[in-house]
Amino acid sequence: MCGIIGYKGKDNVIEVLISGLKKLEYRGYDSAGIAVKGDTVQVIKSVGRISDLEEKVNNTKIIDTDMGIAHTRWATHGEVNEDNAHPHRVGKITLVHNGIIENAEELRNQLMSDGVVFNSNTDTEVIAALMNSYYENSMEDAIEKTINDLRGSYALGIICDDSDKLYAVRCQSPLILGISDNGTFITSDIGAILNYTNKYSLLGENEIVTIDNNGYKIIKNGKEVHRDVMTSDLTDEDNDLHGYSHYMLKEIMEEPVLVNNLINKYSNDLDKLPDLSKYDSIHIIGCGSAYYAGMIGKNLFEEDGIKVDCDVASEYRYRNIIYNDKTLVILISQSGETADTIAAMRKAMENNIDTLAIVNVDGSTIAREATYKVLIEAGREVAVATTKAYILQVLILSLLSYKLKPDNKYLSDLKKLPQQLNVLLDRTGYFKKLADSIYKRNDVFFIGRKIDYAICLEGSLKLKEVSYIHSDAYQAGELKHGTISLVEDGTVVFGIVTDDFIRDKTISNLEEAISRGAKAIYVGTENTKYDDQIIVPKVHSKLQPILVVPVLQIIAYYVALKRGCDIDKPKNLAKSVTVE
Ligand code: F6R
Repeated sequence: MCGIIGYKGKDNVIEVLISGLKKLEYRGYDSAGIAVKGDTVQVIKSVGRISDLEEKVNNTKIIDTDMGIAHTRWATHGEVNEDNAHPHRVGKITLVHNGIIENAEELRNQLMSDGVVFNSNTDTEVIAALMNSYYENSMEDAIEKTINDLRGSYALGIICDDSDKLYAVRCQSPLILGISDNGTFITSDIGAILNYTNKYSLLGENEIVTIDNNGYKIIKNGKEVHRDVMTSDLTDEDNDLHGYSHYMLKEIMEEPVLVNNLINKYSNDLDKLPDLSKYDSIHIIGCGSAYYAGMIGKNLFEEDGIKVDCDVASEYRYRNIIYNDKTLVILISQSGETADTIAAMRKAMENNIDTLAIVNVDGSTIAREATYKVLIEAGREVAVATTKAYILQVLILSLLSYKLKPDNKYLSDLKKLPQQLNVLLDRTGYFKKLADSIYKRNDVFFIGRKIDYAICLEGSLKLKEVSYIHSDAYQAGELKHGTISLVEDGTVVFGIVTDDFIRDKTISNLEEAISRGAKAIYVGTENTKYDDQIIVPKVHSKLQPILVVPVLQIIAYYVALKRGCDIDKPKNLAKSVTVE
């Protein structure tokens, strides 16, 4: 979603804002803007990438300033243009916003009847107008009154013409404080300020932050609040491409090392992982790839004899869910800030149900609020399409399943996994060749059964999101119930075949597609007659997806590369979906 950075201090404000925006660009890249304050407030906005904004800023005479706010936008209200880009300025108030205001139309109509004229279609301009209408001489009062009227999610960075202070407040959308000797930051993501500081404080909902030259003050309901200063383990290094052409490729290539780290951490000390044996029903919830990781978990835990439902968070939060006192809800989320997943977690907690978060970002809402948490320790994931985080989510689910039903083969296979992954990912020449045969196609299908179907879901999502080729995943037996009508000469059909029990069945379904002209690409553990086949080492069934999905990720990467796509920032997508 949108990304926010704000700063007050001695460092060069423009440099802080532009470097921060570049690091937040993965969150939204429709348009961007900055506002700085000196004797006046200067606002510069641009449609497109941060580089477009930077060029505009470089060609503009900037006022003397020691504070500013900046924003990279992922459109929710109103089309992509400069009017709708942030910061929004109404009267004496200039602000940036991440989130969605649900009662924006109602507030807009009220303000219009009071004579306010709007220049954009955004809910953000409504917030600015409302705050301006409440502002008399105290910004704290104006912010307090404004947030009392807002329904929805917001993280706000605010400047007032009359004040030398920078203000911020959040509710449901992420915003943290960054603290350095030279000044104070507000940001949606610590990654945006790591080249200045790794010290930060979390902000609670509706706590109003006031930043001046002496530091900052946090107030809630008129009372000062103390928040601990923490140190992030992340370094600016995590933002570096390390010679790779794209973050997606870099992050796939990090998988063997990260898998190895988690194995070392947990394989000899399973007590560090929660014990699921006390539950008789598990709900696994996530969005997108996190949901598909959950589908792998469903297959694993069902094999262990536990009833599992796996659902997308945006559905789960509104369905009538049947819980019992032995239900566990597992939330999977890389960012820990996905709005629907947070809502699903809160629904379970309101029903007094234990929740387990499998998350990457420590300190995120889901990591903080769930009953239990397991961190996947992927480091920073920059590419919008997740790769390494998905693999580590699956590894944690696999370890949890092993803890439920230990066996020796699992442990011996687990230890070989990083090296096997390394060898597989080294076959780039072959993956590129396969990509050559796919990149001009209009349709690609992935078919598999049971856990192989769960693998297909992620393989297909990865391909479509980065290459823009239409792609779908089907339970292999289901293709002939309709979709096979789309198979024509040259349609690519991936057959994922790792589960011996249903191997022959899936191969028959692949044959059905081939008879109708499909070009088959077989991905499995046994050698076959197919010209295009990727054979991965056979390992314990609870580990097999960890050797197959990386192959599909890397093929998706090379297909997108051949098609000249913007791989790390696919169109219309944002990394962290903090709105419903
Ligand atoms: C796809 C992708 C998304 C995310 C989804 C959930 O490559 O990255 O589908 O998996 O938006 O995000 P998190 O895991 O942050 O909750």
